[in-house]
Amino acid sequence: MNLLEQIKENAKKYNKRIVLPEGTEERTLKAADILIGEGIAQIILIGNPAEIKALAEKFDLKNIGKATIIDPANHEKKEAYADLLVELRKSKGMTKEQAMKLVLDPLYLATLMIKSGDADGEVAGAKNATGDVLRPALQIVKTLPGMSVVSGAFLLLTNKPEYGENGLIVCADCAVLPNPTAEELAQIAVATAGTARAIAKIEPRVAMLSFSTKGSAKNELVDKVVKATELAKQMAPDVMIDGEMQADAALVASVGASKAPGSPVAGKANVLIFPSLEVGNISYKLVQRIAGIEAVGPVLQGMAAPINDLSRGCSVSDIVNLVAITVNQAAAK
Ligand code: ACO
Repeated sequence: MNLLEQIKENAKKYNKRIVLPEGTEERTLKAADILIGEGIAQIILIGNPAEIKALAEKFDLKNIGKATIIDPANHEKKEAYADLLVELRKSKGMTKEQAMKLVLDPLYLATLMIKSGDADGEVAGAKNATGDVLRPALQIVKTLPGMSVVSGAFLLLTNKPEYGENGLIVCADCAVLPNPTAEELAQIAVATAGTARAIAKIEPRVAMLSFSTKGSAKNELVDKVVKATELAKQMAPDVMIDGEMQADAALVASVGASKAPGSPVAGKANVLIFPSLEVGNISYKLVQRIAGIEAVGPVLQGMAAPINDLSRGCSVSDIVNLVAITVNQAAAK
């Protein structure tokens, strides 16, 4: 059984409630039908019930009848959610009038459902941009205690057993924070180690990547990674973390042995931490497109509840996979 099949099998045991705010989007509805049929999650769809019913009939989706459908326009907890939103955002000047408008927005409604305990996780982004999915989540659900940063990890299924953990590499941040400070980079490393344990079920060996290995280059960008490495080690003394190191020193045993002798991580890293979003986002897309490596994610980490963002180019199976991952995150929480 490969990792994704294992993640789906695990999800079936947890029976979590996942809200899909883009309930009238074709791929989302088709994924919901599969998710319900396979028992991967209880599905909550946000959207006009008549429209969802008509689409389910059009695409012959027999399981959609078992989904809970929330109509934003006629929702019994609309007022309560608006009050919660005012409470959470009053320091930012949120008024009841503004909140009553925002609860009609499926992306805000979904995060308010999670905050109220009416759903365990959310997957969206098949038709909304990353920023629009993340903003309500960051404003309402916010970060885990002790964390101030949300970031996005990818699972790279390389099919090359000589790299990472039998071919599996977890890497971040590829999705959220454009230019992290050393403190934020340290948090990203610790959160990614957590994702490696909770989702990939591997013991993390974390490499803090740079264009320098153990002082081979001097630059303020290198200094940031050195500082982040120290901070990450202090934050998570039980996790193997080392750096700064180049990607080849992290991944290739012979290079690791020559550039970073004695390192517990060099040459066998299974978690890679990129120094900035530019590097992370470009790197994962290059290996995905040029090397044909399957990249699963972004898995958002550091958020107080699991909320994950799809690419607008996603397929039905991408949505199924990300919901299964979200269920596993909800269970790990
Ligand atoms: N972690 C935790 N909280 C955050 C983060 C973060 N990384 N970023 C913003 N916030 C919080 C802020 O503190 C703020 O909270 P507050 O309102 O309670 O004070 C709230 O979120 C909104 O912050 P803004 O800075 O106003 O948020 P903005 O909407 O401008 O930006 C966003 C946030 C959308 C995440 C932005 O950083 C962004 O666009 N990042 C890049 C996303 C992207 O395009 N990724 C690449 C594509 S994804 C892919 O290819 C897989």
